[in-house]
Amino acid sequence: MTAGRSSETTETTETTGTTRTTKDMEGTRTMRETRHVQPRETISEPAPDERHSVIRAKAAAALETARRRSLALTDCLDDDQLLAQHSPLMSPLIWDLAHIGNQEDLWLVRRGGGRPALRPDLDPLYDAFRHPRADRPALPLLAPDAARRYVHDVRERALDVLDAADFEGGENPLLADGFVFGMIAQHEQQHDETMLATHQLRTGPAVLDAPAPPAAPHDAGGLPREVPVPAGPFTMGTSADPWALDNERPAHVVDVAGFWLDTVPVDNAAYADFIADGGYADPRWWHPDGWKHRQEADLAAPLFWERDGDTWLRRRFGRTEPVRLDQPVVHVSWYEADAYARWAGRRLPTEAEWEKAARHDPADGRSHRYPWGDADPGPEHANLGQRHLSPAPGGAYPAGAAPCGARQLIGDVWEWTASGFDPYPGFVAFPYREYSEVFFGPRYRVLRGGAFAADAVACRGTFRNWDHPIRRQIFAGFRTARDAAPEESR
Ligand SMILES: [Fe+2]
Repeated sequence: MTAGRSSETTETTETTGTTRTTKDMEGTRTMRETRHVQPRETISEPAPDERHSVIRAKAAAALETARRRSLALTDCLDDDQLLAQHSPLMSPLIWDLAHIGNQEDLWLVRRGGGRPALRPDLDPLYDAFRHPRADRPALPLLAPDAARRYVHDVRERALDVLDAADFEGGENPLLADGFVFGMIAQHEQQHDETMLATHQLRTGPAVLDAPAPPAAPHDAGGLPREVPVPAGPFTMGTSADPWALDNERPAHVVDVAGFWLDTVPVDNAAYADFIADGGYADPRWWHPDGWKHRQEADLAAPLFWERDGDTWLRRRFGRTEPVRLDQPVVHVSWYEADAYARWAGRRLPTEAEWEKAARHDPADGRSHRYPWGDADPGPEHANLGQRHLSPAPGGAYPAGAAPCGARQLIGDVWEWTASGFDPYPGFVAFPYREYSEVFFGPRYRVLRGGAFAADAVACRGTFRNWDHPIRRQIFAGFRTARDAAPEESR
């Protein structure tokens, strides 16, 4: 990868040129990437003498947190359930677990630590690019006990590598700033989120429990429906965050026209109004491909919703409950989000708009790591980490509000944006093309912000998720935006 990952500083001087144009359903919107303007982002760093011990402790904690969750999601089911395929969209849960160990062995132990493979014979079985999900149940997978032993043994080796690692990187950029430990912890947490989606798709008795999310705060009812984000340049992406992935890099300046953004994600009450108003029956609101898909797939409501007279019920991790009207809508495709936005006379925000709202602080002119600043996410900031098994009501987490006043940009639900998944100017694939590069292009839409199912290690203001616009089993919702009128954007 790029030389100098370890030498990046909190201030970067990337400059970019060119005009990039992204298409959304409202037409063509142009974002100018401004030449000769220094990106301004702030990332807190420890003092140099503490750096190594801080990285080591952070890496060990991130790996441990991820493993605890992986085991919680698999120890609650018997062997038959772990080996079963609960949806053709998903892997057997035990495939995910062994794949987590295999990637850790491949990237952390072998490529990062320079050690021999523990079980090289397993590489083809757990290569996600070699076997589509639908084919994985027929593979000669490790039995659950053997899979648990395998991930345990890999982890022992990974911790040996961690003990000996030189975080300056030296000849191996994977080790710089502990990147490969962060990458592997993020990978495991992303699979934990996928495994939670498998639990949601699984039929049968409930096996997961968690406390309810916090109630809406007292001021939630008085929040404005939308907040203004003034026109101007901001720093998008990062060159300073040591565990940021290749697709989040480098930092670059983007000039964004003024716009208004929903203060909170679209909630179930508003979405039910769209359904009641015939939104699913009116092609005027739908992208042509979305309308075709709506008809073919017979979509009539978010995934997991069912009618109960005049109201709606939903299934959540094996339990049926009334749809909570004040919670963000979740399990809607990009096509549904896009249709709702047009029905509401609005549009989805572009990715740059979303990130500007989430990171840019006009008070200091900098982009921060999170809406609330640079502090790591705590339970007061955002609904992350599978602490709760649903999004929190709209307006929750006032301590996590962005400078523009928007809430819940991080956590609760992934938010669909209008944008396709494109590389930033100056993108360099790292550590391999299949990490991001092979997915670039308009066939995927970008999601931002993370969900209650995502972990803080894989969630930040720059983090980019992407998926097909028909996808519904992911924990995705959205918020809407509109252009500011000329007199509003001054
Ligand atoms: Fe994976």
